Amino acid sequence: MSATARKSAPMPDDIRAMKGDTPIVSLTAYTTPMAQMMDAHCDFVLVGDSVGMVLHGLPSTLGVTMEMMVLHGQAVARGLSTAMMVIDMPFGSYEEGPAHAFRNAARLMSETGAGAVKLEGGVAMADTIAFLVARGIPVMAHIGLTPQSINTLGGYKVQGRGAAGTALIADAQAVADAGAFSVVLEKVPEALADEITGAIDIPTIGIGASSGCDGQILVVDDMLGLFTAFKAKFVKRYAALGADGEAAIAAYAEDVRARRFPGPEHVFGDTAPVARP
Ligand code: KIV
Repeated sequence: MSATARKSAPMPDDIRAMKGDTPIVSLTAYTTPMAQMMDAHCDFVLVGDSVGMVLHGLPSTLGVTMEMMVLHGQAVARGLSTAMMVIDMPFGSYEEGPAHAFRNAARLMSETGAGAVKLEGGVAMADTIAFLVARGIPVMAHIGLTPQSINTLGGYKVQGRGAAGTALIADAQAVADAGAFSVVLEKVPEALADEITGAIDIPTIGIGASSGCDGQILVVDDMLGLFTAFKAKFVKRYAALGADGEAAIAAYAEDVRARRFPGPEHVFGDTAPVARP
């Protein structure tokens, strides 16, 4: 079913059932107004830990806290009614072990109303994913370029090229076997993304991967041209809101300095207007 025709948010199983059927549409969101804009168009909305870089000016996602995720998750939830909300588990909130991951995942879900959590990792996280799923927490996995591991990956490089592709296929299979309902493939070669998509029975959600993935996700500020610090090759800008916004702010500044703003229509008279019959 298309997102526009739906009356209530899909469950993780509905997203899973879209594999091989309709392409799954998703974006990140961090605020209520953005969530409202995408609610009718997306199957799920991710409260990504990219919030740290995009909204808080952090140099990476490593400084994002549980408190930040809860606050932004609550804001996004207020803007959604027909798209499912998935929320990222921030760095340090799940890697230590399954029980620790459960406590934080349960907090994210109970305090924000998210329908699922997302965590980064493949084979290494399979036990944790199985533990969470067995206890009622739907999990979206995230493999390939996993930004929380940039220090061990050596930066934001394409993952899985050449022989490394075999390990990535094993990661995808491990998270699918562990019970994840879908998996994000970030920054992997197109052919490998297609191979993984064909090899596993859960949807692949591509970002810098392949149009053959079962769905796509982008950081909303990137695709709206709001986050203009740099543009990754895999981002398509559908608007230039950053440049438009700066031009609008410059025009406002000029108006204020020239006393053109506020105009007569923006100020209040001494008496209330007389109501006419
Ligand atoms: O945090 C995020 O925005 C993400 C997407 C890039 C998938 O994980």
